Amino acid sequence: MEILIRPDAASVAQAAADIIADYADRGATLGLATGSTPVAMYKELIARYQRGELSFSQSQAFLLDEYIGLPREHEQSYFATIRREFTYHIDIDDARVYSPDGMAAHPDDAGLAYDKAIAEAGGIDVQVLGVGTDGHIGFNEPGSSLSSGTRMKTLHASTISDNARFFESTQDVPVHVLTQGLGTISRGGHLMLLATGDNKADAVAALAEGPLSAICPASILQLHPHATVIVDEAAAARLKHADYYHFVEANKPGWQGH
Ligand code: F6R
Repeated sequence: MEILIRPDAASVAQAAADIIADYADRGATLGLATGSTPVAMYKELIARYQRGELSFSQSQAFLLDEYIGLPREHEQSYFATIRREFTYHIDIDDARVYSPDGMAAHPDDAGLAYDKAIAEAGGIDVQVLGVGTDGHIGFNEPGSSLSSGTRMKTLHASTISDNARFFESTQDVPVHVLTQGLGTISRGGHLMLLATGDNKADAVAALAEGPLSAICPASILQLHPHATVIVDEAAAARLKHADYYHFVEANKPGWQGH
């Protein structure tokens, strides 16, 4: 796992955009996360697209997760959110943005179909991830099977409360979701997790320096051969080996790339 520590959230967004831009140049299949953390990176990518510096015309995208019971048109569905915050503003057609079907009569069938669609697309080349304050990635809450496929999950009370800011009231936050599983996410070629702010410091320390455990689903990054964690100083505050991560980056051989 490579850990890049940046002074602030804006430089996290720049570093993450540099990586995604390289993948877009190769027409890669992108795995996209919603939530607040990647928004600044999406804004930066939109700006680079508008300046003619990059194109997504050969790329397609798979979302990490979706609320069950919200149609795609609902403004808080993750499909609508990613469209509003990113894909509508770049040259990637809605038809090439895939999301789990939150309105499916049989969510588990929809989960299986989603994993099949990802496999048929040749897999996800680079997966953008945020992390929940409870250590979730996608909506794999603590206790999720480390090898799970896309399936229904029940949100943790802490996630419902964290996400209530996007809804009129806590009661409006759907309780159930369809999320790429930890096994699905692990099959991505490159996992890139972003975290900013001091409320993420415990989760970042647990995922990077704690034990590999279903209690901290993000710790599966420890098993992945190509994982990059990009954090600001606030989110890095509880990392014991921060000095070492800076040293590694300062001494990174030029041939290594992202
Ligand atoms: C979003 C997702 C979640 C978020 C996480 C952090 O698609 O899968 O895992 O990445 O809840 O959310 P923010 O970035 O809002 O703190």
